[in-house]
Amino acid sequence: MPDALTILALESTCDDTAAAVISDREREERIRSSVVFSQTEMHALYGGVVPEIAARAHAERIDDVVSAALANAELPMSEINGVAVSAGPGLIGGVLAGVMCAKGIAAGSGLPLIGVNHLAGHALTPRLTDDLPYPYLMLLISGGHCLFVIVRGPDDFIRLGGTIDDAPGEAFDKTARVLGLTQPGGPAVEAAALSGDEHRFEFPRPLMDRKDCNMSFSGLKTALIRAHEGLVASKGGLTEADRSDLAAGFQAAVRDVLVEKSRRAIIEYLETAPRERSFAVAGGVAANATIRAALEFASGDMGVRFIAPPLALCTDNAAMIGWAGIELFRMGRRDGMDLAARPRWPLDMSQAPMLGSGRKGAKA
Ligand code: KG4
Ligand code: ZN
Repeated sequence: MPDALTILALESTCDDTAAAVISDREREERIRSSVVFSQTEMHALYGGVVPEIAARAHAERIDDVVSAALANAELPMSEINGVAVSAGPGLIGGVLAGVMCAKGIAAGSGLPLIGVNHLAGHALTPRLTDDLPYPYLMLLISGGHCLFVIVRGPDDFIRLGGTIDDAPGEAFDKTARVLGLTQPGGPAVEAAALSGDEHRFEFPRPLMDRKDCNMSFSGLKTALIRAHEGLVASKGGLTEADRSDLAAGFQAAVRDVLVEKSRRAIIEYLETAPRERSFAVAGGVAANATIRAALEFASGDMGVRFIAPPLALCTDNAAMIGWAGIELFRMGRRDGMDLAARPRWPLDMSQAPMLGSGRKGAKA
């Protein structure tokens, strides 16, 4: 095996068509290229990702995105050692577009193929960015995922808990729709919350009485809709201040649930006596400054190092798939032309899958 591996990676499980060329060199030389084509605008009209539109857009774009990643890396195909592809979990039409394209490249070039779990890509990102040693605790919070895992190796995850219904990003997006804000909802709700009073409306903090690390966000969504309806019924509409107070109250409830459950997950993680104590967070919701700061504070309070990768690597991208592909390749993982596209693919195969499948696909 060459000293440094270089992998071409593809990602198409949700609403981003992405490709990257990744090497396992010195940290600053790892991402040779990373191209992300976002479909956000295509789905904006519908208030959520439309699977059929996503599948077609991935199929139409993936070749161009791969070509752009190769061109930006300024490397000939002869320098590439393998092709990694996100083979699930996700919206099946999109996953298929990526897997078929990767198989075509592998067959045409004779390069080995590596199927990567999209969630493993997110979970291994702190190794790409910070060389974080195993085992570390990871909280993945996005529009489609919400789970705590202890990351012990590229293919070795222990799930401590997760959402039993919606993902927090989904709740942010729904809140934005109710408040008449733009999509994706997270940044819009965060901006509205800046000037809001988080104490004016009492929102529930579900499952806080349970000792486990499981979370629920659908009740919070319903409470927000009720509060909104109450305001409309009593005074015919919302003022800017009402909107900000609702956004702030909602965001505070999500923050409190995530912080409290993170504290519990950290306790469970520390019971495994890790060599170094690290808590990493990834996913679009990790971009929220209030939530990020609260998680960082809780982590410091418990004597655990806090890592949050740069935003572009927190949200969906192919660089993370390339890095996971490299780690799996080094372990000897190779897939054949029978590599399956999987709508569901839990990270921790030893446990029954969590309930729930949101509008962005299976949560695994
Ligand atoms: O990881 P991501 O880009 O895509 C997947 O869902 O896989 O996450 C997108 C989600 C959206 O639901 C979006 O509203 C949320 O992350 N998000 C945020 C923020 N930025 C993005 N949620 C809260 N605060 C933010 N600043
Ligand atoms: Zn993702």
